[in-house]
Amino acid sequence: MWYLFKVITFITNLGAIHGAFRYQRSVNPETNMNISQIISYWGYPDEEYDIVTEDGYILGLYRIPYGKIKSDNNSAQRRVVYLQHGLLTSASSWISNLPNNSLGFILADAGYDVWMGNSRGTIWSRKHLYLKSNSKEFWAFSFDEMAKYDLPASIDFIVKQTGQEKIFYVLFGNKDFLPNSPFTRIIGSKLCPQKIFVKICSRILFMMCGYDQKNLNMSRVDVYMAHNPAGTSVQNILHWIQTTAPLYNVTNMNVSTATWNGANDLLADPEDVNILLSEIRNHIYHKTISHYSHIDFLFGLDVYHQVYREIIDIIQDHL
Ligand SMILES: *[C@@H]1O[C@H](CO)[C@@H](O)[C@H](O)[C@H]1NC(C)=O
Ligand SMILES: *[C@@H]1O[C@H](CO)[C@@H](O)[C@H](O)[C@H]1NC(C)=O
Ligand SMILES: *[C@@H]1O[C@H](CO)[C@@H](O)[C@H](O)[C@H]1NC(C)=O
Ligand SMILES: *[C@@H]1O[C@H](CO)[C@@H](O)[C@H](O)[C@H]1NC(C)=O
Ligand SMILES: *[C@@H]1O[C@H](CO)[C@@H](O)[C@H](O)[C@H]1NC(C)=O
Ligand SMILES: *[C@@H]1O[C@H](CO)[C@@H](O)[C@H](O)[C@H]1NC(C)=O
Repeated sequence: MWYLFKVITFITNLGAIHGAFRYQRSVNPETNMNISQIISYWGYPDEEYDIVTEDGYILGLYRIPYGKIKSDNNSAQRRVVYLQHGLLTSASSWISNLPNNSLGFILADAGYDVWMGNSRGTIWSRKHLYLKSNSKEFWAFSFDEMAKYDLPASIDFIVKQTGQEKIFYVLFGNKDFLPNSPFTRIIGSKLCPQKIFVKICSRILFMMCGYDQKNLNMSRVDVYMAHNPAGTSVQNILHWIQTTAPLYNVTNMNVSTATWNGANDLLADPEDVNILLSEIRNHIYHKTISHYSHIDFLFGLDVYHQVYREIIDIIQDHL
């Protein structure tokens, strides 16, 4: 069996920057690159795998096996860290900033073997053994299948490939954690069921979760825009918007868990946060960052100091 160490942040949706920053011109070359290209553009080793889930989806799994800074002994066994993106994003969100502010590169440079998954339906996971990606059947999925099939397929592959059974797991965006404001609920129920509105809804959600221009590198917005939203099923959006009880019983998870949330995150109702936090059994660390909204956890100029440095410290303490 493998051991999970879980780092949750309460961010779900950073997509939908489209529209908000449409006037920006594309200047950064990463805008037109795929994940492997971005990784090697910054001088890091990249590996790309197609893995197949039990129900036939073919997922793009990416790896930065070691970093640039501490590459003195590349054959040494490195601890695995698996990064899982949130709704509407993809693995590209771990490598979208400059290397010194992107969690994927920072972990590789800190000596870890970094793996980045892509859930079904994202632009890097749009293949299936039998189904066409433009078919209704292909898109008939939601978080349940991601948790049941995508995650195990990725983790099993990594365990087989590396021989390591203890994996540190960083999850951005918690699906137990549903937006609960009346406004979201109205948008959710009135507009979102119609496919054509999904993009609009995600824009509205983005506007609602807010962003802090002072904490964003506005010169890189073209990169963030080019790679988000990364696609998911309508069913998934509906699932996410529903305001019923948690889908997963958090109290059954006994992994060491550290959490970060943003007080400025309008999608994260403080009451919901408290309920979720109280249900985490093995809670080793929590921090509320008062000026943080959703996208700061990925793109904030100070995210290294606010979050990533602490993630590495906590992982180090649990080796
Ligand atoms: C990414 O781009 C490289 C270079 O063009 C190509 O070899 C590779 O297959 C691409 N990967 C995907 C997933 O499209
Ligand atoms: C590099 O790591 C490998 C595997 O752990 C080890 O066998 C080898 O001695 C190391 N080499 C150096 C120069 O440290
Ligand atoms: C990353 O590097 C850029 C360019 O050298 C610098 O302006 C920025 O402050 C650095 N960010 C961090 C978090 O160290
Ligand atoms: C902001 O992005 C630009 C363009 O990629 C880069 O040259 C600059 O160093 C970045 N600034 C910081 C503070 O990271
Ligand atoms: C969650 O699991 C715990 C422990 O197995 C159990 O006591 C509790 O009743 C469950 N809660 C729900 C809502 O199913
Ligand atoms: C949960 O984890 C803790 C610490 O690793 C351990 O002491 C405890 O026995 C575990 N409980 C269960 C029910 O597995």
